[in-house]
Amino acid sequence: MKKTIIITGGAGFIGSHVVREFVLNYPDYKIINLDVLTYAGNLENLRDIENKPNYQFIKANITDADKVQEIFTEHQPDGIIHLAAESHVDRSISHPLEFVMTNVIGTVNLLNAAKHIWQDNYEGKRFHHVSTDEVFGTLGEDGFFTEETSYDPHSPYSASKASSDHFVRAYADTYGMPVVLTNCSNNYGPNHFPEKLIPLCIYNIINNKPLPIYGNGKYTRDWLYVIDHAKAINLVFHKAENNSSYNVGGFNEWKNIDLVTELCRQMDEKLGRERGTSEQLITFVQDRPGHDLRYAIDATKIKEELGWTPSVTFEQGLSKTIDWFMDNQEWLNNVTSGDYKKYYEKQYS
Ligand code: NAD
Ligand code: DAU
Repeated sequence: MKKTIIITGGAGFIGSHVVREFVLNYPDYKIINLDVLTYAGNLENLRDIENKPNYQFIKANITDADKVQEIFTEHQPDGIIHLAAESHVDRSISHPLEFVMTNVIGTVNLLNAAKHIWQDNYEGKRFHHVSTDEVFGTLGEDGFFTEETSYDPHSPYSASKASSDHFVRAYADTYGMPVVLTNCSNNYGPNHFPEKLIPLCIYNIINNKPLPIYGNGKYTRDWLYVIDHAKAINLVFHKAENNSSYNVGGFNEWKNIDLVTELCRQMDEKLGRERGTSEQLITFVQDRPGHDLRYAIDATKIKEELGWTPSVTFEQGLSKTIDWFMDNQEWLNNVTSGDYKKYYEKQYS
């Protein structure tokens, strides 16, 4: 069936994998990537598919309500997959308002534009909001986040994402908007922006720079290979019931210090360095304020209802990721020059 789908944030890390997943698997769909290209958006991420006949890029800011409305009116999308966001917790601590603008106001602008063009006739329409497990707050040593876990965000980033989730559900309850939500754990993989732990450490290991570990390094995250997240979004977008939400995770918890040690081990092997060389770069630094201790997703619902499970093990995924960064050092050098250099110096000085 022919459909037009707008994917917001399609030039970012996860968005580019979602765009590729849809462009390659649905040649009959028209896939529009709506992205303003912040520091995190990079059209290099989509070079391999940019000339496909079912793909189009539109540069626009989701905080600009009129522009969003104009694009929706012109293209009449049947579906929205919303990933555009400010996504880095550390940046949200220094610039919270930017997170409110894009993550909250931007989301409401998209909901309003969708409501306007769909005119309360929602047959065959869908708004898929891509969110995070951080909205649930932090876990202690035990337990998992389920779809029923109450919201308890702590950082400005997670507060803005929680707010956007609430707006999406409010539009379903108030106006009957057909929505689905996914809340995913930490992604890793190709094109990951090197402000985040894994690509930052890969870059620093290659360049023999310190590996900054916040606090005591015992903070725990659940890691999922980004292509498995893109596949989960594809499944939920096509198969989920209206107004449902799914948690997506890798059943793959790592304490930060253990993860970075494993990364050092794999990279020493790949770089032909003596075992233990890169570990010496590990440096404990000042903790992140309000740092959540542990995230862990119970992904049973998406497994049982939609048959989704991660397709790669963490060892395979991490190995593919390191190989990608080692083969794409020009990409890495491009995104770490300019403004990112200033951010890095300020964050880690
Ligand atoms: P990212 O920072 O790599 O990319 C964000 C993209 O959004 C960029 O292309 C950027 O240019 C675009 N963007 C930002 N502000 C915009 C605006 N005002 N208008 C239009 N485009 C704008 O983010 P990511 O890590 O790929 O995350 C994508 C989504 O997935 C986010 O909503 C994030 O909350 C969610 N998420 C991320 C993770 C993760 O581990 N990275 C996990 C769960 C959920
Ligand atoms: O859980 C999903 C979330 O995962 C997403 O919603 C966010 O968009 C995404 O950025 C990610 O958030 P985190 O804060 O968990 O990711 P980050 O890579 O920034 O940090 C992972 C862990 O590593 C966290 O405990 C903080 C720690 N850390 C991070 C950096 C950048 C360090 O110890 N040192 C660092 O230099």
